[in-house]
Parts: sequence; C-alpha cells; structure tokens
Amino acid sequence: MKILGIDTSCDDTSAAIVSDGRNVLSSVVNSQIRIHHPYGGVVPELASREHIRNIAPVVNEALTKAGIGMKDLDGLAVTIGPGLIGSLLVGLYYVKGLSMVRKIPLATVNHLEGHILSVLLEENPPDFPFVALTVSGGHTSLYHVRGIGRYTQMGQTLDDAAGEAFDKVAKILGLGYPGGAVIEALALSGRRDAIDFPRARISPDSLDFSFSGLKTAVSLFVDRWNSSEKLKNEVTGADIAASFQEAVIDILSKKIIMAVNSAGVGSMVVAGGVACNTALRQRLSEEADARGIKFYYPRPAYCTDNGAMIALAGYYRIMRGEQSGQDEDVRSRYPVEEIDK
Ligand code: KG4
Ligand code: ZN
Repeated sequence: MKILGIDTSCDDTSAAIVSDGRNVLSSVVNSQIRIHHPYGGVVPELASREHIRNIAPVVNEALTKAGIGMKDLDGLAVTIGPGLIGSLLVGLYYVKGLSMVRKIPLATVNHLEGHILSVLLEENPPDFPFVALTVSGGHTSLYHVRGIGRYTQMGQTLDDAAGEAFDKVAKILGLGYPGGAVIEALALSGRRDAIDFPRARISPDSLDFSFSGLKTAVSLFVDRWNSSEKLKNEVTGADIAASFQEAVIDILSKKIIMAVNSAGVGSMVVAGGVACNTALRQRLSEEADARGIKFYYPRPAYCTDNGAMIALAGYYRIMRGEQSGQDEDVRSRYPVEEIDK
C-alpha cells in the first residue's frame, strides 16, 4: 500500500512515498531557509507563497524518485495542523484536489502525531508503550504513547520551544537562523561548565518546560560580555554556546526520565528538529543506559519536518478505514488528544 505524505506546516515543503507504513521509497524536502534567513525567522506570508510555488515540483520529484506514478498511489496523507494556517492550506487544498480528481483516499494528519511516530520508520522500532519527547522549533512536549492514536500529553513548554531557544540564542550571538546546528557546532570547542545558566523556573516535580528564563539569562550575559574586555578574555562565544546547550540538555534529559518513571514504561523516544543534536542524543542515551531504559530516535532526516512521517501516520488511519472528506479544514492549534474527536 503506497501512501503519498505531504507536510507544509511551517517553512519546508515536504513530500514522501511510503509503502506499507514502513518502507520509505522517497522523501523530498524543499527548504525555505534561504528565503527566511534575512528576517531571522519564518515569515508566514512568504512561506505560503513558496509552498504554492514548490508543492507540485516536490510531489513530482517524490514520485519520480520512488519510480511510480500518481496512478500507483493507494492513499494520500496531509498535515492539517498545528502550524501556520496559510502554509497548511496549500498542502490541504493540493491534496483535496488530487483526491477528488484521482479518487484516491485521503487521510488528514496531526503534525505532532507524525513526529511521535517518526521513529517507526527506523529498523527495530520500539514496542508500545513508550514516552516520547518531541522537541522542535514550535513544540516541546512529553507524551505517553500507548499505541497508534493513543497519546496523552504529560508535559509541554509554558513559553518558548527548545528549538526556538536555540534560534533566539543564535540570534543573540549573531550566528544567523536557524540556530540549532550552528550552536551545536560552536559548542564543540566551548566549555559547557563555563557559565552556570539557570535550569528551572517551575516546580521541580512538573513535567512542563520553560526556556524563556534561560534565554533572558543568556541575553543579559551577552550584553555584559559585549561590553567587557575582561569577560571576553575569560569566556569565548563557544563557551556561551556550550553552556547554553548544556542547560537545555540538562532540562530535557531530567524531564524525560521523570516522565518515563511516572508513566511506568521501559522505552523512551526523542524526535523533532532538536533531536538532531548529537550531544542531546548522547546524554539521553547515557541516562537511559544507566537506568535500563531502551532509547530510540529517528535519523536526522526524519527528525526535522518530512512527508514520510505524515505518510506513516496516514497509512494507519487509512488501514483503520478512516477517511477524510472535502470538508476538512486546517487548524493552527491541534492538541494530540483531539485527533480522534
Ligand atoms: O522539527 P523542525 O524541523 O521544525 C519544526 O517543526 O519546528 O525543527 C526545527 C528546529 C529549529 O528550531 C532548529 O534550530 C532546531 O530544530 N535544530 C536543532 C538542531 N538542528 C535543528 N537544535 C539543536 N541542535 C541541532 N543540531
Ligand atoms: Zn515539526
């Protein structure tokens, strides 16, 4: 069963062909980083214009790479939220048209469900139940995942997402957008214990996250650092990047272990763009090993936004006999608990 999965929730136009919810025949991502880079963040108006320009070529490339044509598709899956309304609309209306003209079943997918399930695209995926930490530019949440479609949110960020914190700190340090990979690279040559940035602003028992205090602390430190030659001789930009990254890793690793203990499960998963971070993966792996917890993560190409995870989630919906109609709409907010409502 071959599904075309499409994601246009933010600034990437993605399409993939996945067979039987497992085998990725092709996955194409057209990144808009070049367009948004001068603005230091995603400009929604520009993002939807780019999606309109790119969607048909990206889908055609995915079909060509998979060696199939439209007529070979058994299903269509598209993200309807959460995300930028103008961007989501492009994907949904493209797929609605295709579904109507070609009479192909259509499944609408929650972007967060895509991230939660993305690890199932890998060899030796985890068994249910598990705890999933999704960390991206828009979201930082913990889920108790009991099975396909059975998700309970255990915690979420009360302010910035982890990826957003990386992006903002990169901006403060003048490193450009997006910031995650640049901070990670710079941190390699820095001392992670150079500055003791604050970890927690909320109760230690809470599974929620807060990154705005950390971001403000970095900003205040960089202001002082910029105006003090003495401080500049003692601390490098790499030290700031490494110390900031260490604080984020401390927060994320502490909360995922707390969630695993609270849910009473034996496996944990990290997904989303920030899960590309090697230092984070290493720390989570060590923490899991020390406690006999099994730890899983998707390859970087399935951590960042992609159509394959949407095709996978859509496959299970279509297999369950669920189909979406022409009356479907997009949603900027779409908690996973509302998926089957
Ligand atoms: O999942 P994603 O591609 O898009 C969203 O749904 O947001 O995540 C993008 C986010 C950006 O904030 C980016 O800075 C962050 O993931 N990111 C990283 C790394 N690579 C990407 N953060 C930390 N370390 C990385 N290596
Ligand atoms: Zn995402």
